[in-house]
Amino acid sequence: MTEALTTETLAEAPAEEASGREALFSVKDLVKIFPNGCRALGGVTLDIYRGECLLIAGSNGSGKTLLMRLLLGLSDPSAGEIRFRGLPLDRCAAALRREVGMVFQDADAQIIGETVAEDTAFGPKNLGLSGEALGNRVSAALEAVGLEGKGDFAPRRLSGGEKRRLAVAGVLAMGCETVILDEPFANLDWPGVVQVLRLIRDLKQGRKTLVILTHELEKVLAFADRLVILDRGLIRDQGGSEEVLNRLRGEYGVRDPRRSYRRVEDCTWLD
Ligand SMILES: Nc1ncnc2c1ncn2[C@@H]1O[C@H](COP(=O)(O)OP(=O)(O)OP(=O)(O)O)[C@@H](O)[C@H]1O
Ligand SMILES: [Mg+2]
Repeated sequence: MTEALTTETLAEAPAEEASGREALFSVKDLVKIFPNGCRALGGVTLDIYRGECLLIAGSNGSGKTLLMRLLLGLSDPSAGEIRFRGLPLDRCAAALRREVGMVFQDADAQIIGETVAEDTAFGPKNLGLSGEALGNRVSAALEAVGLEGKGDFAPRRLSGGEKRRLAVAGVLAMGCETVILDEPFANLDWPGVVQVLRLIRDLKQGRKTLVILTHELEKVLAFADRLVILDRGLIRDQGGSEEVLNRLRGEYGVRDPRRSYRRVEDCTWLD
């Protein structure tokens, strides 16, 4: 991908839909076919708007992670178009890297530094920050995720929830306005889930654009402005959470979480 995007070119980019919402990402007819013949995305068309909290739900293998990898330019589509703030990805690689951060499914794989502070500093250092400015960024990011005081800690000794919060700190330290969270609750116990949910709530209050990929709707649906159902590489439905769930008929491997767990005998996912 080519580099260097000036603010001027970004300002020129047309990226508004009729309702006035600014489409941060515009994805059109996106197809991904792997060399082994697997058609993992079969023509996805989707807008992601600035400042929204978008929940993309879909069962294992539906294409959630792959779709985000394509959005970030980490994998090339077989066909279709992706625009970020109105520009094709190859014309905005630097802006994309600066503005959009992804917290991967496997928090361990994202750890780079020997200490929590070093790990958080990695991204902003790459953006050219150093000295006091870098130190301030790192402190602010660690504070935002509640890891202040753990700067000298070895990241691998953090709990699962803390590791995920560390990954978010790295994204915040880079100044990313958009945060993509891939299966943010995977392998977390209840306190870990609560930690991550508090962070999601804070990011939302801070007006970040949030994209959350999960099949665990019951944990986070309350925060979603919009729900997208992805199934076998196709978007089957999208809209307000309530209306999408009302249309669901137990299809697409997504379970409607609006059921009561008040009685012990209800505490099972086996209907
Ligand atoms: N390199 C590859 N070669 C062939 N197929 C691939 C490759 N990478 C991904 N796939 C396929 O693409 C599909 C979508 O995968 P993806 O990881 O996006 O699913 P997902 O929705 O994130 O699932 P999960 O909930 O398990 O994380 C899967 O069927 C997967 O096997
Ligand atoms: Mg995935």
